[in-house]
Amino acid sequence: MIDKVKSIEKDALAQIKAVNSKDDILRIKGRYIGKNGVLTFCIKELKNLPKEKRGEVGRQINVAKKSIERELETAMRRFFKEERENLFKNALPLDITLPGRRPPLGRVHPITQVTDEIVDIFLGIGFRVAGGPEIEEDYYNFAALNMPKDHPARDMQDTFYIDTEKLLRTHTSPVQIRVMKNEKPPLRVIAPGTAYRRDSDVSHTPMFHQVEGFMVDNGVTFCHLKGVLTVFLHEFFGKATSVRFRPSFFPFTEPSAEVDIECVICEGKGCRVCKWSGWLEVLGAGMINPTVFDSVGYDTERFTGFAFGVGIERLAMLRFGINDIRLFFENDIRFLSQF
Ligand code: PHE
Repeated sequence: MIDKVKSIEKDALAQIKAVNSKDDILRIKGRYIGKNGVLTFCIKELKNLPKEKRGEVGRQINVAKKSIERELETAMRRFFKEERENLFKNALPLDITLPGRRPPLGRVHPITQVTDEIVDIFLGIGFRVAGGPEIEEDYYNFAALNMPKDHPARDMQDTFYIDTEKLLRTHTSPVQIRVMKNEKPPLRVIAPGTAYRRDSDVSHTPMFHQVEGFMVDNGVTFCHLKGVLTVFLHEFFGKATSVRFRPSFFPFTEPSAEVDIECVICEGKGCRVCKWSGWLEVLGAGMINPTVFDSVGYDTERFTGFAFGVGIERLAMLRFGINDIRLFFENDIRFLSQF
């Protein structure tokens, strides 16, 4: 019996040496130490041996089983190693000198770029930034700005009403009221933000951006208004750009002006963009109407101030040479990635 076990072991080890595949290994494993394997059969035979022989034969079987298992394991490992090496051998060569692929990067929206630039200019001359809600009360958007209930600017045509008291602000001027109600002069404030009007064509979108600005103190005059806005426009469009102030009307300023710059497209010669006038309107402005100071409780004998509103899209269109305002909000990546 002992010899039989030894010869089984010898056969098995010889076969293991000659394997060609992982399948071979599994087959050999089954043939010798599987449920119906020859060595397993010897274990079953043990009980038929005389008692005093069993111990020795049993030990011999164990030795054989251990060595077969060990060799199977070693052979298996060899195959795994070969497989791994082949994987690298057959892979395409890796050229680590090739440039990497950059993930696409977002950019700052042109409207945000222009807003930041405007804000920077005003921060540089001592203004600070304030804000207010886009869903605004009738009172702040109109009434406190000297636009009584029957004023044409309140027309349903222009304003998105939410209910009788709430609306989407039609300009950033309500921020003037909110700041002045909370704080006392001296004030030098700008308020960039969105505004909404029912309007849509090549130069109007229902949502657009403005920067409101105002200054209130003892002795603020129209000279300060002209000085501040001229500095701003020269910073933004260049010192050589001519600026002109034209009389106009806003309920919340008196006197009021609209501010034009020399047409940046034709340099004042006259073209389609400036409608052959040589000038482009870029700002509304004026001295804050004493009626507005009354609504916020300021002493109109002591304080005067000026206010202005800039259309950001207008400036961005001029700056980047864009002829359709709607391009800003279509979110076409080919358009936006140019800025
Ligand atoms: N709020 C005005 C508009 O939207 C602009 C403006 C602001 C005019 C401040 C004068 C003073 O047209």
